[in-house]
Amino acid sequence: MIPAGFGRLTDPPASLLLAGVRVIDPSTGTDEVRDLGIVGGAFADAGEVPADAPRIEGHGLVAAPGFCDLHVHLREPGDPASETVESGSRAAAHGGFTTICAMPNTEPPIDDAEAVARLQERARDAACPVRVIGAATVGRGGSEMADLAAMANAGAIGFSDDGAAVGSATAEVMRALGGLGRPLIEHAEDPGLAGDGVMRAGATAVALGLAGWDAAAELAVVERDLGLAAATGARLHLTHLSSASSVDAVRRAKADGIRVTCDVTPHHLALAETWVAGDRAFAWEDPQRNPPLAYDGSCRVNPPLSTREDAAALLRAVADGTIDAIATDHAPHPPERKRVPFDQAAPGLIGLETALSLGLAAVEAGALTLIALVGALSTRPAAIIGESRSLSRGSRADLVVFDPAARWRVDRSSLASASTNTPLLGMSLPGVVRLTVADGRVTYRA
Ligand code: DOR
Repeated sequence: MIPAGFGRLTDPPASLLLAGVRVIDPSTGTDEVRDLGIVGGAFADAGEVPADAPRIEGHGLVAAPGFCDLHVHLREPGDPASETVESGSRAAAHGGFTTICAMPNTEPPIDDAEAVARLQERARDAACPVRVIGAATVGRGGSEMADLAAMANAGAIGFSDDGAAVGSATAEVMRALGGLGRPLIEHAEDPGLAGDGVMRAGATAVALGLAGWDAAAELAVVERDLGLAAATGARLHLTHLSSASSVDAVRRAKADGIRVTCDVTPHHLALAETWVAGDRAFAWEDPQRNPPLAYDGSCRVNPPLSTREDAAALLRAVADGTIDAIATDHAPHPPERKRVPFDQAAPGLIGLETALSLGLAAVEAGALTLIALVGALSTRPAAIIGESRSLSRGSRADLVVFDPAARWRVDRSSLASASTNTPLLGMSLPGVVRLTVADGRVTYRA
């Protein structure tokens, strides 16, 4: 028996047998029912597993490579009431993630090598390996380039001023990155065009009397950065893209050979801007007619929730591979920053524990295949940060086992995150994680 609950990366390596599980491995295109063994933290044949090792009956369960989240806010240092490395890494393990990348918009920001090293040290015994993204500019101020080489030497896997786009230093940052082999992870939002908008511009914003910002504010930075990537040869990763126009620009840039990758959040795939008006129907469903709760601050997020047409285009782009990854932008905030008038609410919602469920809801609706979902959550984002995922014999055991048919209710007692700011609170969603193994250790067992 593996005890229920969370493990740590410092626990002894696992040995166990998963009997008759549906194995989905996008790296080899595999989708087959078989036994999967783990011995001493590495994948093994079933016959190699010691007879006294725990056995998990895999019937009805899916085993997939562990998920890799390119975009997580751990709020350490500076805001432990919202999240810590401990609580955030447990939320990750509960959601099936075996690598998370921490954004540097902390208090103070992670903008030098010492801060990168400190966070890595804090995460040594966490429930999920944490990779660190360094700030692109000093203090995330946008104008003075940070010491990117020193941060890369300390282990930073990429650079971002997330929360805002990089400002006047962007060209200098891109030139410097050319030699470092690490991507600029860009939050594409033109501050002038976004102005004081608090949701997507359009009919819902007008009906609610809220200031909106147009998708053009995202596209302006996407186009700027694609031009700079072409000119400098630097790698560009556009995070949390939210509109069809941005995805079209990426599709063209990829065809032109520009070194660009991108991700989308589960909430931009599944929730539309009508959620701000209280709608709780998924983006692929018809909107609810008489929604109960408008102006819910938990729906305020940057970039804002988009239209149903955008959500459909984003889903198609995940399916056709133009969008490389699904990344959560897990953004914990306490109630005092969320249960306030909508235009004063802090932008962001938690996503680590609901990402798989929203993806599976899209699969149930026929908008995505299961193997495309798994690839966008695991092998493809891992490749962007130079990590591999494989379920083949001899590889380090890194996997998630979930029941796609079981449902769970999102509430305080079912979440491991220190925060609960999600509009999905109270909803019943498909997909329950039964086991997470990261770097050969059991980090979560239901
Ligand atoms: O909604 C968001 N929340 N978007 C961001 O870019 C930042 C994030 C946060 O840190 O809360």
